[in-house]
Amino acid sequence: MKVEDIKKGKEKISVLTCYDYSFAKAIDGLVDIVLVGDSVANVVYGDENTREMIIYDMIRHTGAVAKGISKSLIVADMPFGSDTEDKVIDNAKRLIRAGAHAVKVEGKPSIIKLLVENGIKVMGHVGLLPQTAEEMRKYGKDDKEAKEILQQAKDIEEAGAFALVIESVPDSLAGIITSQVKIPTIGIGAGKECDGQVLVLYDMLGLFDKVPGFAKKYVSLNNMIKDAVGRYSKEVKEGKFP
Ligand code: KIV
Repeated sequence: MKVEDIKKGKEKISVLTCYDYSFAKAIDGLVDIVLVGDSVANVVYGDENTREMIIYDMIRHTGAVAKGISKSLIVADMPFGSDTEDKVIDNAKRLIRAGAHAVKVEGKPSIIKLLVENGIKVMGHVGLLPQTAEEMRKYGKDDKEAKEILQQAKDIEEAGAFALVIESVPDSLAGIITSQVKIPTIGIGAGKECDGQVLVLYDMLGLFDKVPGFAKKYVSLNNMIKDAVGRYSKEVKEGKFP
């Protein structure tokens, strides 16, 4: 899959996060885009927020994912603090060298413009921006905030992003953004109207008991792991394995 293949108006675009080689091999080609998200902070490192991630961590995870992916498009998150004007080009190039085809930036149309001018493909991100948000809530419920988010989406399109994540906004606002920008929108907690959907891999695989309300568990790996590990341990203790 190439960045140029990610288009609006064809079939819906499927995106999952992924952080390591083993899962990358398992999901390669089954989704259009694999996002090496900075949500790795929450689900792999057990951190409270995504601000803990540094560029070195993201380079390592991107490299690991890239070794397992030959079909899907790889997008890597620019972590908190790595996308300032003085550092963003160098840092984005490091993620591309590690195997990403494109990077994702939260907000910041002017930074996206700079990246695009330097030949780097960028996915934008509006709505809830976890790196800087004070609260994890729906954004754009009131008119003022909705207008600001819509304007930011348009500025990101204008800056040259090839696609746009819309996170945690009312379905109606995601629909309006989707109809007013020409680049494909990828929703998370933003309803059906988007051109595609993204989920955190561990949420949809049911690795945790609790998942966000908008996520769907397609399997309960947590229970399957507990069952398998429990049986293994029992067999070891009873001398049945090996
Ligand atoms: O890091 C991440 O998982 C993300 C998605 C929520 C879009 O940015």
